[in-house]
Amino acid sequence: MHDIIRQLEEKRDAARLGGGQKRIDAQHGKGKLTARERIETLLDEGSFEEWDMFVEHRCSDFGMADQTVPSDGVVTGHGTINGRLVFIFSQDFTVFGGSLSEAHAEKICKIMDQAMKVGAPVIGLNDSGGARIQEGVASLAGYADVFHRNVMASGVVPQISMIMGPCAGGAVYSPAMTDFIFMVKDSSYMFVTGPDVVKTVTHEEVTQEELGGATTHTSKSGVADKAFTDDLQALLYLRRFIDFLPANNKEKPPTRPTPDPHDRVEMSLDSLVPDNPNKPYDMKELILKVVDEGDFFEMQPDYAANIVVGFARMEGATVGIVANQPMVLAGCLDIASSIKAGRFVRFCDAFNIPIVTFVDVPGFLPGTAQEYGGIIKHGAKLLYAYAEATVPKVTVITRKAYGGAYVVMASKHLRGDVNLAWPAAEIAVMGSKGAVEIIFRQDIGDEEKIAKRTAEYQERFANPFIAGHRGFIDDVIMPHNTRARICRSLRMLKNKQLENPWKKHDNIPL
Ligand code: HXC
Repeated sequence: MHDIIRQLEEKRDAARLGGGQKRIDAQHGKGKLTARERIETLLDEGSFEEWDMFVEHRCSDFGMADQTVPSDGVVTGHGTINGRLVFIFSQDFTVFGGSLSEAHAEKICKIMDQAMKVGAPVIGLNDSGGARIQEGVASLAGYADVFHRNVMASGVVPQISMIMGPCAGGAVYSPAMTDFIFMVKDSSYMFVTGPDVVKTVTHEEVTQEELGGATTHTSKSGVADKAFTDDLQALLYLRRFIDFLPANNKEKPPTRPTPDPHDRVEMSLDSLVPDNPNKPYDMKELILKVVDEGDFFEMQPDYAANIVVGFARMEGATVGIVANQPMVLAGCLDIASSIKAGRFVRFCDAFNIPIVTFVDVPGFLPGTAQEYGGIIKHGAKLLYAYAEATVPKVTVITRKAYGGAYVVMASKHLRGDVNLAWPAAEIAVMGSKGAVEIIFRQDIGDEEKIAKRTAEYQERFANPFIAGHRGFIDDVIMPHNTRARICRSLRMLKNKQLENPWKKHDNIPL
């Protein structure tokens, strides 16, 4: 008995030491925490229940039989974040570079299976050199098992990937199938093929950071949602982020008490929209002034900034915010922004999170780059996402809502539940000048006539009333009442029931 307890302690100590003090020091030297330190930072103190500490790899090739480390390069288990259950795996770079063996994959699969049974989020802290090279195809099979579970879990429990080191080759496809990817600046990177292969194939010279660092993926590729300065910041923000999410697709979003009055009046909003319709203003100011306590967790802030998406709370309950940003590309919809917002809307819909949409959109961005890039199909993603969403949808048009983009942005026609407009709203097929230049083409060149026609068109159509006459908007509200009106609408929609027809699955334009 004593012997078993001694062995147990020895194994625990060995597991805790991972790849040894030297490699731990190297990890710290790079400014990174170890796998276990990360878990301790992320979870509530003392809440972590570790599983499979004694699992070891089964490989005997290349002298591996003599090189076993309990836990085999990944720490797995469950714990709580602010009292709410989460499952977690944290790859240990000090053990074979965090590479994924068959046994390592089995550990990840085990917690994913359990998370599905009990309905709780899965968080992956990724720090791995990819497939365990000594294990060959067994390791690839392990990846495949994880991928398959990612797909099964998609839309059932939230899955979040935090990239905290290398993530290369096929390994990137597990994070790619999770709901959100966060990265740590200067210490994490993701790519399918590394700089050496790139150089051989395309003759491009590129560093790891340029090819797949946090800046690349948060601003160029849009693969990652947000980047943090270091491990500590990343993990503390992850705690904050998890608070917004329901545990699974059957739960309502979590609520937390707020001292912010639901009917708080914000007089400064009355002067937010400039008199000149071509002058931009910052849509984020509106968001911050409307949501509970100005607390807005923006996703993809540095990518497709012409649309703003993120999580906030209204009367304590999570909502997803989608808003055109007039400061960037005049708020036009383009390929990147449609994909960004479409995916966000679908996440919210899958997890019962009501969507609040702020609209100021002059249309889809014209140009060959957009057309050749497939704006037709990509723009349709956002249209599709809003149209299929059955969660409560509250829309506020602050200024322009033109053409197809008006329809896309959670309009009444796409089952918007409550559609409100500010007095400055212009709901029309297009801007007055463009409209006049088409329907009065014969007058082009006669500036006086064009100006008169434009003023007429503006007077007739650039207001919220034409849409109001038809019931396409439910009310015109004063900007200062926006918070109160949204809160009341969301209260009214609390028990909304709406179902789409049965289908095996839909066929969103990919
Ligand atoms: C086994 C690995 C390993 C791997 C790293 N190590 N990657 N062991 N399998 N894939 C080991 C190293 O041998 C080393 O062991 C320790 O981890 C730390 O690695 P270093 O190279 O010293 O660290 P660093 O300089 O920081 O470089 C990290 C790295 C590099 C960039 C990740 O190790 C690397 O390029 N590794 C190989 C990456 C790779 O090609 N993976 C396979 C991709 S294909 P010691 O004992 O010296 O400490 C793939 C297919 C998946 O993943 C397909 C799924 C469908």
